[in-house]
Amino acid sequence: GGGGGGRAGGCHKNTVNKQPMSYQSTFDRSIRQPEAFWEEQAKAVSWFRFPEKILFKDEKGLDRWYGGGRLNTAWLCLDYHVEAGRGEQVAIHYDSPTTGVKRSITYRELLDEVSRFAGVLKSFGVEKGDRVVIYMPMVPQTVVAMLACARLGAVHSVVFGGFAPRELAIRIDDAKPKLLITSGGGIEISKVIEYMPIVNLAWEEATHKPDACIVLQRDFVPVPLVPGRDHDWNELMAKAEPAAHVEVEATDPLYILYTSGTTGKPKGVVRDNGGYAVALKWSMANIYGVQPGDVYWAASDVGWVVGHSYIIYGPLLHGCTTILYEGKPVRTPDAGAFWRVIEEYKVNVLFTAPTAIRAIKKEDPEGSLRHQYDLNSLRYLFLAGERCDVATLEWSQQLLGKPVIDHWWQTESGWPMLANSVGLELLPVKPGSVSKPVCGFDIQVLDATGRQMPAGEEGIVVVKLPLPPGNLPDLWNDTVRFKQSYLDPYPGYFFSGDGGYIDADGYVYITGRIDDIINVAGHRLSTAAMEEVVAAHPAVAECAVIGVHDNMKGEVPMGFVVLKAGINIGEEQLEKELVALVREKVGPVAFFKQAIVVKRLPKTRSGKILRKIMRNMADGKEFTMPSTIEDASVLSELEDTMREHQ
Ligand code: COA
Ligand code: AMP
Repeated sequence: GGGGGGRAGGCHKNTVNKQPMSYQSTFDRSIRQPEAFWEEQAKAVSWFRFPEKILFKDEKGLDRWYGGGRLNTAWLCLDYHVEAGRGEQVAIHYDSPTTGVKRSITYRELLDEVSRFAGVLKSFGVEKGDRVVIYMPMVPQTVVAMLACARLGAVHSVVFGGFAPRELAIRIDDAKPKLLITSGGGIEISKVIEYMPIVNLAWEEATHKPDACIVLQRDFVPVPLVPGRDHDWNELMAKAEPAAHVEVEATDPLYILYTSGTTGKPKGVVRDNGGYAVALKWSMANIYGVQPGDVYWAASDVGWVVGHSYIIYGPLLHGCTTILYEGKPVRTPDAGAFWRVIEEYKVNVLFTAPTAIRAIKKEDPEGSLRHQYDLNSLRYLFLAGERCDVATLEWSQQLLGKPVIDHWWQTESGWPMLANSVGLELLPVKPGSVSKPVCGFDIQVLDATGRQMPAGEEGIVVVKLPLPPGNLPDLWNDTVRFKQSYLDPYPGYFFSGDGGYIDADGYVYITGRIDDIINVAGHRLSTAAMEEVVAAHPAVAECAVIGVHDNMKGEVPMGFVVLKAGINIGEEQLEKELVALVREKVGPVAFFKQAIVVKRLPKTRSGKILRKIMRNMADGKEFTMPSTIEDASVLSELEDTMREHQ
């Protein structure tokens, strides 16, 4: 490993932020001169070797940032701050209302744990480029495991705890990890989620077998270890030797994060080291308006991109204190939970999903619990992960008396693409809009033929290439799918999969996915994955799963099934079986609760199921009859069935 010296180009302050600049001029420059702009921003990061080529094409012809740059992301998150005198500052406040545990970990302590766990990984032969799958709850050891991978230049792939064995197995087979790191389990409000049975099933189902499994025991769910396979986290740590960081190339992968695609197979979104570090550091100051030392809380889960970028890497790269909250907005113990955490840790910025606010509003409609707490430290509430309805935005604005900022991004981007960049300039908030493009993102709205839509008219949201640093450079082991999914639909642009429009003032509105991905309580899920499971039931001839509007969760999946001829099964019984199947195969987080038997599904003459029409129909929206429909009478049949089930 490198010694940590010789940091060329190591300008330690973000010079760009000495004087606040207006949004528009900064944005314009980022689009006109992307290389100059991102070269300047790169100086805020302490490189071991400053990049030679700011933007270049790799051997596959894909855009890459910071060629020749060398760094280590974990070093930047930890060693850098300890060396700079931030060692005694709290890096993580771990707050777990579900287990009653609180623990504050300083930068120095976190560095020590991460170095030792890196030593553990090394003792299992983990090296730069090796993959490690992490299936863990919201505990500090999860952060330690991720940063320890980063310290060695190994590639972590965190799998969200609410996914079922099959989903975990699919990810293991794709990432081919050397190790699996897991835990006895987690707690969902008051229900213990045992991880080991899930891990055991996934281990069996996966073709690829990791060398070993490291298990973090938790008091409330002690698990027997499988001899020869499992190793106890604490025992390993007790005898661990700290490992030094390993210098990596800016373009080397930091992690793979699987996300739902439009087929049952998830996409392995790859994140690099250099572009990500620069983008996140820039975003902390310029989008979220926080400074080193501030307290930043993303109330999400480490299993999602929000957790990667804004529970861990963003705040730590920027020298902030982050909050790791193992609880919910409600029922842990009540709808004042978020306000309690803000007061207790003097949180400056909170980031959560609108569904969390709706959950609070449902239990405490007047927001009376908020008045039991001192929320003076809070500057902004940021919302993302799903569309934010105006009522939720306005309710939270009134409740908090602070700006509430809806912003838009995806696992693919890794950081916001549309936002009110309050660190640059707080623009007027327009409810319903996700504000304006973030620096570096040339957002446009096109029609199906690739022509730019006039102001106010809905089309497909795309980003003109090149994407700024931090975005996915590729999919893991699947460049063909990367190109097909994102680059081929509109040559010269990145295809986001979302629809939307831009108003006359340049504010952007996101209207929702135009593909078969849905957002259930801020969790991104693939209806295709659910369809695969439903279709495998012996009674089902064919099926469609669509996302329908839900007041609380934003969207929920709903299945429509056509029975095989001659099958005799009660509709209620079938629904019960399908619900159980999806829960078992995809996971509880899919929240698949409804399956309706229909005679036929609406299709085009070429046999494509008209899911969009079904969706509009279920939501009671207007729709136009496509000329390609095979038999229009299916629609009135379907409408009747839906009415019966309302
Ligand atoms: N491990 C295991 N199971 C999990 C899980 C996890 N990490 N997360 C959720 N689940 C399970 C839940 O226990 C629940 O199971 P059940 O059907 O047995 O009750 C199911 O998945 C659905 O969970 P969830 O979607 O969380 O619904 P909920 O009603 O329990 O909670 C909210 C509703 C709004 C409180 C919650 O969804 C929330 O906090 N959402 C914010 C999402 C978020 O942060 N998204 C990231 C983008 S910012
Ligand atoms: P994920 O990859 O899990 O972050 O999900 C990304 C998807 O969530 C986007 O493609 C959008 O469909 C949706 N999304 C995220 N943020 C917003 C937002 N602020 N408004 C509307 N949709 C959003």
